[in-house]
Amino acid sequence: MTVNRELFDQVMVPNYAPSSVIPVRGEGSRVWDQQGREYIDFAGGIAVNCLGHCHPALVKALKEQGEKIWHVANVMTNEPALRLAKKLVDATFAEKVYFANSGAEANEGALKLARRVALENFGEQKSQIIAFNKGFHGRTFFTVTVGGQAAYSDGFGPKPGDIVHCDFNDLDAFAALISDNTCAVMMEPLQGEGGIISATDEFAKGVRELCTKHNALLIFDEVQTGVGRTGELYAYQGLNVTPDILTTAKALGGGFPIGAMITTTEIAKHLKVGTHGSTYGGNPLACAVGEAAFDTVNTPEVLAGVKAKAALFNELLTAINDKHQVFSEIRGQGLLIGAVVTEQFKGRAKEFLVAGTAEGVMSLVAGADVVRFTPSLVIPEADIREGMARFEKAVAKVVNG
Ligand SMILES: Cc1ncc(COP(=O)(O)O)c(C=O)c1O
Repeated sequence: MTVNRELFDQVMVPNYAPSSVIPVRGEGSRVWDQQGREYIDFAGGIAVNCLGHCHPALVKALKEQGEKIWHVANVMTNEPALRLAKKLVDATFAEKVYFANSGAEANEGALKLARRVALENFGEQKSQIIAFNKGFHGRTFFTVTVGGQAAYSDGFGPKPGDIVHCDFNDLDAFAALISDNTCAVMMEPLQGEGGIISATDEFAKGVRELCTKHNALLIFDEVQTGVGRTGELYAYQGLNVTPDILTTAKALGGGFPIGAMITTTEIAKHLKVGTHGSTYGGNPLACAVGEAAFDTVNTPEVLAGVKAKAALFNELLTAINDKHQVFSEIRGQGLLIGAVVTEQFKGRAKEFLVAGTAEGVMSLVAGADVVRFTPSLVIPEADIREGMARFEKAVAKVVNG
């Protein structure tokens, strides 16, 4: 069988438009394709590969668990799930954990839980969910409707109801929307897919205060920002605003699919036996890898390293920009970095990604105007420098047409 990009068009549903490059092997922050070409990975599987590729601690956990037990139904619990849950609880505001398999599923659980809490504590009228324009929360019908881009939820028939949106960082608009009928507010502390936009301190604090005033639950979607990405274990810890529910996925498994929703005992008690569930949520293999990833990332060295690496990344990116003047702003937190293209390149961020791939460096976009970088949290300095040297060549090619 010839396994190449053409086969994708023959046998895969056409909801993605993948590159012609097919990666077959990875080690640390380097990846090799079918032809043996090597790439520096500044994409990290969209903020998933927090420890790069095939990190020895994750490989060891996967192999060891793979020879013990792979799966048990949720009629029984398992050791890796209990250990990872305990570590999540010990490291955060949360007291209870629900495991899922992805970010969208963790968010789905959070939204269902919030609706349940409001219904049981206050009654049917308290069902409104407020979320933010440009926000992204996943692709299940509930989460994509809560997301702030109607285009993603249009075209699938009647949408889940009582979901409203306003502009991110617009506290006045938010204050005008929230009421005692608001059940929950879902937000990313730093919008990822929407273009790498940080919540201002005042906005996050204001949202928290208004949620408390109106008995609305504040849900932080930390699927992209969580597990060290911003240099904090979770971004809320840097904002000094504590949510009622937090969702985490992506880096939580370092490349193995897992998600979690974490919350307080008081809120969690509303998901009584039988109200929600998932066959694979809390799967021993996923939780064993998750535990190893969490243990490795949640150390002062790795978290401080994120900030140091981010400083180098920003310095080199700024130097490229000083020379070529293609970005109007470089923003983000930690190793979640966005470079906003200038008016001249508006709508053309993807050209930098494509040119980068051709030069041997993998990057991402966040919308049409932002080039995004989410490398491994432990990427060696030499790989940052080499990747940036390649990226500069790519920028020069885009500039020279
Ligand atoms: C903030 C945020 N929430 C949720 C999701 C959805 O996660 P998943 O694709 O694992 O369902 C993403 C994915 O990009 C995300 O960035």
